[in-house]
Amino acid sequence: MSDSTDTAESAESAESLSADELHALQLERLQWTLRHAYRNVPCYTRKFDEAGVHPDDCRELADLAKFPTTTKQDLRENYPFGMFAVPESEVSRIHASSGTTGQSTVVGYTAADLDVWATVMARSIRAAGGRPGHKVHVAYGYGLFTGGLGAHYGAEKLGCTVIPASGGMTARQVRLITDFRPEVIMVTPSYMLTLLDEFERQCIDPAASSLRVGIFGAEPWTERMRAEIEGRANLDAVDIYGLSEVMGPGVAQECVETKDGLHIWEDHFYPEVIDPFTDQVAAPGEQGELLFTSLTKQAMPVIRYRTRDLTRLLPGTARPAFRRMEKVTGRTDDMIILRGVNVFPTQIEEIVLRTEGLAPHFQLVRSTKGRMEQLTVHVEARADTPAGRRAAAAAELVAGVKDGVGVTVEVAVLDPDTLERSLGKMRRVLDQRDGRS
Ligand code: DLL
Repeated sequence: MSDSTDTAESAESAESLSADELHALQLERLQWTLRHAYRNVPCYTRKFDEAGVHPDDCRELADLAKFPTTTKQDLRENYPFGMFAVPESEVSRIHASSGTTGQSTVVGYTAADLDVWATVMARSIRAAGGRPGHKVHVAYGYGLFTGGLGAHYGAEKLGCTVIPASGGMTARQVRLITDFRPEVIMVTPSYMLTLLDEFERQCIDPAASSLRVGIFGAEPWTERMRAEIEGRANLDAVDIYGLSEVMGPGVAQECVETKDGLHIWEDHFYPEVIDPFTDQVAAPGEQGELLFTSLTKQAMPVIRYRTRDLTRLLPGTARPAFRRMEKVTGRTDDMIILRGVNVFPTQIEEIVLRTEGLAPHFQLVRSTKGRMEQLTVHVEARADTPAGRRAAAAAELVAGVKDGVGVTVEVAVLDPDTLERSLGKMRRVLDQRDGRS
């Protein structure tokens, strides 16, 4: 593994690599990863053999497209430790995602993997505007979820002071922020909204807090949501992306100076976008499903892992060495096909947030009326919305969705504080169609 032990040191300087240098580094690491996975993980040995490919067939980066993709199903079938490429005794940490459906997926890290993860997270926090000496309030959940501990070790590595608040106990979080005066908060955007409401409930103006940077991720959120949070909290809101199967948070990060999508830390995670129906690699800039191949992971390398997240790849800007991914529109499995039209919760979010009188708290309820599927947007009115405005707001939302998305939805405008609040990842879609709950 000597060819990837220098990863932690080179991570900072990687930001100034030329394109040629980056590609050479990626190819060397990719070849190592393919060999490592093929030799040590029976699932990859079988899949490569079945597809008639061998690690030696990878002579340039484009050759990766010849290799089979990996899915969540592969991880489930090898539960719990079957995807590990090192002996269990060399695994320093385990995380798992609860999985809304079916079995949880388990991931493992060697000590060197944890060091790389902390390094890319430190890089992310710095790109977001965090600096050594800043206090970082981490309100991502700690535990098997990768959010809390991933953010934690990255912030420490950058030289910050970490406040490991985890999720929940919302009133206390506001107290901690007021008393400890952190500059940076790391939390899901939906839980940030819960915190902002709590600030206001305690009659504290969140815009006057010490927070200057918010690093929000783990779920999709829109430009309108950025404007909502920045306006109320008076901070820079930037996007962080990641997934446990690939590492955790810190796979890609939006830079505070440009706020134009997320730079992928490509020296460790090699991205591809494919058409999810044909599996063909998409042309640069075309939208499709994002895939990642880990380039330095020892304990659990992933080859062409299908994230189910939809985005497009764009050239680098603030960090020219690395490509960007556009803010994620949604997951293929969050997509609702309503009478033949694809609907994503993020599309509804944009329209809710531009409708005067509506709060950013909403949930989509799928139901069946007769033989037709129906989608109802449950959305709260803002506290200061006059009762007489609600019907007009509902009509505007119906028209906005018809116009922007092309489907007719029902809208129920609810009293403030009636919808379930997020403590982490918000469940945006409730499925109440016949036979489902
Ligand atoms: O959510 C890791 C993470 C923690 C990322 C904290 C950012 C901040 P998982 O629980 O494995 O890991 O869920 C991964 O969450 O495939 C996306 O569908 C979604 N997701 C993560 N970040 C974003 C984002 C963590 N910035 C899944 N925008 C991913 C949209 C995101 N979706």
